[in-house]
Amino acid sequence: MIDPPIRVGVIGCGAQGQNHLKVIKELGIETAVVSACCDLSPERLQNAKEVWPQARTTDDFTDMLASSELDLVIVATMPNTHVKMALAALEAGADVLCEKPFMRNLEEAETVLDTAERLGRQVQLGTNMRYMPTSRYLHNLVASGEVGVPVFCKLWGCHVNPPWWGPHYYLSSSAGGVLASTLIHALDLAIWVGGSPNPVSVSASMRCLFPGKRGPLASPEVKERFNVEDLFTALVRFDNGSTYVLEGNWCDDRPPPHSFEMVTTQGKLNSDPFIVTVDEDGEVVNKTPELQENSGWGESIQNQDTDVIQRLRDGAPWSMQDRRQLLNLQKLIDGCYESARTEREIVF
Ligand SMILES: NC(=O)c1ccc[n+]([C@@H]2O[C@H](COP(=O)([O-])OP(=O)(O)OC[C@H]3O[C@@H](n4cnc5c(N)ncnc54)[C@H](O)[C@@H]3O)[C@@H](O)[C@H]2O)c1
Repeated sequence: MIDPPIRVGVIGCGAQGQNHLKVIKELGIETAVVSACCDLSPERLQNAKEVWPQARTTDDFTDMLASSELDLVIVATMPNTHVKMALAALEAGADVLCEKPFMRNLEEAETVLDTAERLGRQVQLGTNMRYMPTSRYLHNLVASGEVGVPVFCKLWGCHVNPPWWGPHYYLSSSAGGVLASTLIHALDLAIWVGGSPNPVSVSASMRCLFPGKRGPLASPEVKERFNVEDLFTALVRFDNGSTYVLEGNWCDDRPPPHSFEMVTTQGKLNSDPFIVTVDEDGEVVNKTPELQENSGWGESIQNQDTDVIQRLRDGAPWSMQDRRQLLNLQKLIDGCYESARTEREIVF
């Protein structure tokens, strides 16, 4: 017997929702079908229909969940709505792939994960950088012990201009600025590659350089609403003795925009450009492998959606993150903001 395709619902058909719609289309309708789409904007629903003409469309996610049988719900709205949508989708019997940042705080994150556990459902966060082949290689390399253990990591997430094309620059919608929106990608990746240690303390600071920087390029609406940090720095200690230094910057055209450099006891790992060097008999030896698959951003979203859908088809559990990792990331982000606001170190 041929298994039926996975039935997918997408809530939020904006920039990232559209990416999911297109990526799932490429899997083929025998693998997955987007059968329902939800957005407040008729125009965005129309755009979704162009990719998935057969999908039911609505502006009410509760109506979508009540009237469609879904295996997977992708929550691709802004973070102020993630908690209610994730909970409703779980209660409706679907597993949930939720866009980053996960929730607005640890309490919301615990509620969602507790609900998933109670209902026997799964939740994964869309930190797609984990799905880059270079990321997987570095993760496995550290886990193998071949480069010793991580001791220090410098990581960053940057944009040339604040991302004012979407509602990322005002707090009521975004749950934070450059940390929640941009830096979270490299932060999650570097922690995962480093063996997912538990955060012990953080000392952070944040600034808003806009509109002094980049202001002349912004529309009056952006100037009026902009109320998040566009520069975020922190020093985080972990329980394996490693220290991470973070920089998020929305006024920096640094290539590459999302990356880390990790010092281990036997070598050094760079995520982008992808470089592995190892100390051998006192010599620094370049051990960067040639990887066949592409580590682009779009490909990582494709790999992520393919993985969660294929596992649903196979009846295999999602395995990219566990509860501890998700809660640690949320706890660290909450602690980062608390430390920056209070100008004090936070000990977890
Ligand atoms: N992983 C990535 O590469 C990546 C890239 C971009 C954005 N994101 C994340 O995706 C999420 C969405 O970001 P975006 O840039 O697509 O924003 P967006 O504004 O382009 O899209 C969000 C959509 O949600 C819709 N929406 C808002 N409230 C709703 C509601 N109550 N019911 C139904 N629809 C509603 C809006 O109308 C909008 O179309 C954010 O969490 C963001 O951080 C992830």
